[in-house]
Amino acid sequence: MGEVPFDFQRYFDTRIGHIGRHRCGFDGKFQAHVYPAEARFGDFQANGVLPYAKSTGRNPRQLAQILLDAMLREKDFSGEIATAEIAGAGFINLKLSPSTIDRWLRHYNSAEKLQSSLDTQWRGRTTVVDYSCPNSAKQMHVGHLRSLVIGDALQRILCFCGANVIRDNHLGDWGTQFGILLRQLRAESIDLDTVPQEDALELLEELYRRGNAAVNESKDALEEARAELVALQEGDGERMRLWRKINDLSYASFQEIYNLTAVQFDHILGESFYRDSVGRVYEELQECHIAVENLGALVVFHPEHERFREQPFIVRKSDGASNYASTDLATVLYRMEHFSASDIIYVTDARQRDHFEQLILTVDKWFRAKNYPMPRLHHVYFGTVCGTDGKAIKTRAGGSVRLKQLFAEAIARARVAVEEKNPDFDEELREKIARAVGVGAIKYGDLSQNRSSDYIFSLDKMLALEGNTAPYLQYAVARIHAIFRKRTEENFSLSDGQSIAPQTQEEHALARQLLRFPLAIRQTIEELRPHLLCNYLYDLAGTFSTFYNANRIFCENSSDTQRRIIFCERTLLILKLGLRLLGIETLERM
Ligand code: ARG
Repeated sequence: MGEVPFDFQRYFDTRIGHIGRHRCGFDGKFQAHVYPAEARFGDFQANGVLPYAKSTGRNPRQLAQILLDAMLREKDFSGEIATAEIAGAGFINLKLSPSTIDRWLRHYNSAEKLQSSLDTQWRGRTTVVDYSCPNSAKQMHVGHLRSLVIGDALQRILCFCGANVIRDNHLGDWGTQFGILLRQLRAESIDLDTVPQEDALELLEELYRRGNAAVNESKDALEEARAELVALQEGDGERMRLWRKINDLSYASFQEIYNLTAVQFDHILGESFYRDSVGRVYEELQECHIAVENLGALVVFHPEHERFREQPFIVRKSDGASNYASTDLATVLYRMEHFSASDIIYVTDARQRDHFEQLILTVDKWFRAKNYPMPRLHHVYFGTVCGTDGKAIKTRAGGSVRLKQLFAEAIARARVAVEEKNPDFDEELREKIARAVGVGAIKYGDLSQNRSSDYIFSLDKMLALEGNTAPYLQYAVARIHAIFRKRTEENFSLSDGQSIAPQTQEEHALARQLLRFPLAIRQTIEELRPHLLCNYLYDLAGTFSTFYNANRIFCENSSDTQRRIIFCERTLLILKLGLRLLGIETLERM
């Protein structure tokens, strides 16, 4: 017997499509369209006969019969299936044979085996994930949450899929905020060096607010701020020194959040890193006739695009300063030349869709003209985190909610719950649990939402032990660990030759869900949407719960016990792995 297929959805889809096209005389258009089936129909369902019959004007049930007969004639293939039946207008329902399930569960018993069998288009691709990227001179706030957690989950999943991932924090450390800040420091004659470190960021945020108001009110102030930025960008010594200081202060506060959330980067190449490479961008874009001078600025129009035919992509401002577009263009060039990036994934809010659409169009023309290797650019955008009023979440005073406070509150609430439930746990353990639950709840609460939509932020919901939440899944993990603590020598290991094919209905349902793991990962990474993995894990935990409530693990019949322990082990393996891929910590007790 050969190796058991890993990814049954893909395996059936490919094999049945092939059988249709090569054994049944179906033409090249035929696709099997295999999907997981509802339990009452079987394990998988092939839906492709219907549309094919329609397009060729033939009888779908007849075609389904031809296909089914051919499938059953393929010895190796039919061995995987227990039953295959035609249903409805021409669907084919498949049930896996017990021995196939047995072999799958036996073979895929470690994260390494799951990983090495996974086959996605990402294997071997050098992929830059551009995420977090806060602007400096501010503390991180709730607006920075989604890029952080979605970006981190995606980079973890991409690594798991075999991509060569480069995690790059493209800080906003070169933008207009510095012009405003430098001007305001001067206007208020503030010497930043005399401000105690712990107050500095608060002060800078205040200064920025006042400075921003000033430039909105007065043309002179606006001109001064612009001049400050130009002077900084030209490398003026004192301004550079202040700029460095502001960045260091900012990064120290970002790092606290990264430590708390276990987020790491391979590179921190902010906008300023590209300050000397924008010149080449201007030159090449002009030389290739992609950018033109327009009212003193350098801009790119895209005549083939409905809006960007008139809405310019400004790559150099009329005062000569570089901007977000210039540095992003230089960044693509750098990532192509220094990282040989085949893919770049940008994780930002949906308001930047125009920017990235224009960036992608511009890079496409530019790299084509210069004959540069063309990376694929993906804009993974997300919606807004809202308060209960449905508008972007704000503090009572109308300010932005700091991430530090948000996490602290979640941890504090989790802490109260742990203390109530487990008063006997020692201090260190309680703290560890509170942190894993509090941080995990916020991360998962975000990840479990379809990223392109807005969502309403509710710590109560995120921290609930019921529903699609991190605590629910973390609890499922802890519960399986608790089962294992009851395990004895006798029921510890599988005796030779014993089958682990599911016997009860609940075991079968659990096995089906476990076998769908490869599909869940594939769907998640094809769409770059972590909520698909969340949904899968939530279903898995629910299926496990039903199994656990209906099937006693430690029972008289030792082969039942041993088999059920394997079911627990595989569930634990996939739950833990799945949560790890989302950046959520798991616990043995909680
Ligand atoms: N700093 C930007 C912001 O706060 C995000 C940067 C995203 N990355 C990029 N290469 N443009 O919105």
